Amino acid sequence: MDWDKFALIYDWEFDLICDYQKQDINFWERFAQKYGNNLLELGAGSGRVTLPLVKKGYNIYALDNSAKMLELLKIHSISIENGGELNMVQANMADFSLNRFFDAVIVSYSSLQHLTAYPDITNCLACIYRHLRPKGMVAFDLDPDVLSFPDTMPERQVYSGCNNQLKAQVTLFTSWFTDEKVRHWNDRYLLEYDDQHQEEFHNHIVLKALYLNEMLSMLTAAGFRITDIAGGFEGENFNEKSERMLITAQKKG
Ligand SMILES: C[S@@+](CC[C@H](N)C(=O)[O-])C[C@H]1O[C@@H](n2cnc3c(N)ncnc32)[C@H](O)[C@@H]1O
Repeated sequence: MDWDKFALIYDWEFDLICDYQKQDINFWERFAQKYGNNLLELGAGSGRVTLPLVKKGYNIYALDNSAKMLELLKIHSISIENGGELNMVQANMADFSLNRFFDAVIVSYSSLQHLTAYPDITNCLACIYRHLRPKGMVAFDLDPDVLSFPDTMPERQVYSGCNNQLKAQVTLFTSWFTDEKVRHWNDRYLLEYDDQHQEEFHNHIVLKALYLNEMLSMLTAAGFRITDIAGGFEGENFNEKSERMLITAQKKG
């Protein structure tokens, strides 16, 4: 996926269509309050989760592999006064080495599921383990319904909205197909600018379906003890209808 291109739209689109997901901030604030001051966030993006925590005084290393998303995070962070320390790292969450230990690691909004190969996921868990202090904590916010019916979908419009920053009407069309537990969305963005010119770009998003049992096995094999499983940001029980799959685990030893 080309996160660099999508970065231009990400925050605006999130605000427009992701009403439920916005409630994750409370979850991460409670997580940070309970588990420590020095945090690492993987797939931090433009700082949607990172910045409210920095504002509250937490020190955060924000890791992302998109230069553009980190550039936006930097711009958004400029207005913060008297917050915690923010460090940005451009790296692959499946293979990073920061030479420091953290109290806790945050993997928000399905970010782990952008790794579509199992070896990358287990490498990511190993990297998290190596960067946690003894008994440090990690939590993952995962989409439990990546493979929702049907397996393939011809192109259809998702939304059309006015983006004041871009001075354009943005219309998103999407289609998808599914291959080996990975859903591929082909998103087509049509930008109709106020000065009448038009532009189009395509974005390929992939997410891997990860089931509770396999996550628990991979985490246990990587040296973690599961401490909590929830189906929503307020700690709802996890079941087959849950909106989210929130797994919290502790580094053993
Ligand atoms: C769904 S966004 C989440 C952004 C932010 N955490 C939020 O909750 O709004 C996923 C982020 O993961 C990043 N990402 C995807 N694959 C990655 C990888 N292999 N290593 C590091 N970051 C990655 C993308 O650049 C993007 O910023």
